[in-house]
Amino acid sequence: MTARPDDDTNAVRPYRDLREWLDIARELGLLKELDGAHWDLEIGAITEIERRRRLEGSSVLLFDRIAGYPEGYRVLTNADNPIPLVARSLGLPAARGGLAFVREWKERMKRFEPLPPARVEAGPVLENVFRGPAIDVLKFPVPRWNELDGGRYIGTDCVVITRDPEEGWVNLGTYRVQVHDRDRLGLYISPGKDGRIQMEKAFARNERFPVAMTFGQDPLLLYAASFHLPWGTCEYDYAGWARRAPIEVIAGPVTGLPIPAHAEIAIEGFVDPGEVQDEGPFGEFTGYYASDRRPAPVVHVESLMHRNRPILTGSPMGRPPSVVFYDLITSATLWNAMEAAGVPDVRGVYVHHMAPTTMFTAISITQRYPGHARQAGAAAIACRGGAYMGRYYVVVDEDIDPSNIDEVIWAMATRSDPEKDIEVLRRCWSGPLDPIVPPGEKGFNSRAIIDACRPYEWRNEFPRVVESSPALRARVLEKWGHIIG
Ligand SMILES: Cc1cc2nc3c(=O)[nH]c(=O)nc-3n(C[C@H](O)[C@H](O)[C@H](O)COP(=O)(O)O)c2cc1C
Repeated sequence: MTARPDDDTNAVRPYRDLREWLDIARELGLLKELDGAHWDLEIGAITEIERRRRLEGSSVLLFDRIAGYPEGYRVLTNADNPIPLVARSLGLPAARGGLAFVREWKERMKRFEPLPPARVEAGPVLENVFRGPAIDVLKFPVPRWNELDGGRYIGTDCVVITRDPEEGWVNLGTYRVQVHDRDRLGLYISPGKDGRIQMEKAFARNERFPVAMTFGQDPLLLYAASFHLPWGTCEYDYAGWARRAPIEVIAGPVTGLPIPAHAEIAIEGFVDPGEVQDEGPFGEFTGYYASDRRPAPVVHVESLMHRNRPILTGSPMGRPPSVVFYDLITSATLWNAMEAAGVPDVRGVYVHHMAPTTMFTAISITQRYPGHARQAGAAAIACRGGAYMGRYYVVVDEDIDPSNIDEVIWAMATRSDPEKDIEVLRRCWSGPLDPIVPPGEKGFNSRAIIDACRPYEWRNEFPRVVESSPALRARVLEKWGHIIG
């Protein structure tokens, strides 16, 4: 039987953990193995070069025999960019990128039904367990990723697991984690993120905040952890649904927090209220060191677990593009949220790779009534997926592909009049990493809606576009296609 294009169950071979995922990468020719690189800057620079050269067609990089470390203590980077692998992780059938990917994932997200994790008693993550003085996170070849980084970052492609101290639900987030010493880590969570709100709640009660972290895991867990899910939604439930099988978790021996049984490396620890230590700077997703060395909470590591021949996963950021999957998923999340907010006839939403988070987002609509375009822009500014650290929201007509930056620029240049078509909203949700906000003023930023749709009231009289009609194109292609393709 032939699989229908929308029949995604037929097309996707399930996998269980990072190692089986790597087998798929190898089979697809999307795995490069490198021996002998140095953890100090080399791994970061090699990853940057691979990513910049090919991006969506790039390979994952598996480093072994890292300088100063035994064979088998490995680092894996760039798991976030090769589209065929991102699609596999999410259970999508075809390796489509761009707007087709966004549309497909958006439709799947509408069918989300929580699938809670399954508790198991044992798992490979327990192959090696350490407590107290035996803990040393630098037994792994933790990279210094960029030349001006303030230290070695073990958490870049990590999953931070926490529990709401009042409501009891478990959150997964991806937040950067710096090594201070063998059992103390710096944790930076931006203001307003679920994990940060949970931590602040614990501190307000003057309680220690329990944390578990994995530093090597199935990429699907990283994707889920970095999704913008509604408050109260556990990312394990989301990953289980995407996988069509519950994620197996053990109870952390110290905190009781659920830890993926197949994680490569995991720790547990506590953050004490009021305790901070200088952290950073770190080469961030904006492409800048936008925040200097600053105090951040400290995690005291009380247990360390890892598999034999552990793989540390890393996702260095820096000058964009850096994490393609994040832009695609954010586009899908925002598109759904806009529809849920009541914006009709949205034809496409695309967060552009060179403008991370939602710093440049294009939205195409079929204009139905006066004010529809501004409504779409205003909703995108405020909705989940679009609200954090956004900048420009460009609304275009449906004949413009929002994922094609050239078309978006053409629309902006020809269908908007700056005097009339740019709206600015001030004092919006930003954070310490926003490069254009001066030090000392970080926290808020402004947003612009650029209405690049044909003006509604004379849209039908707007100058006609100069291009061949579909009938003429078809006729010409039939006759000349053998030469012009
Ligand atoms: C590779 C990667 C690294 C990230 N690093 C951070 C970080 O250091 N701090 C942060 O607040 N968010 C970071 N994020 C974004 C958050 O993971 C994302 O906003 C997520 O939705 C937060 O989860 P929460 O809202 O459940 O707290 C990162 C995302 C990715 C993909």
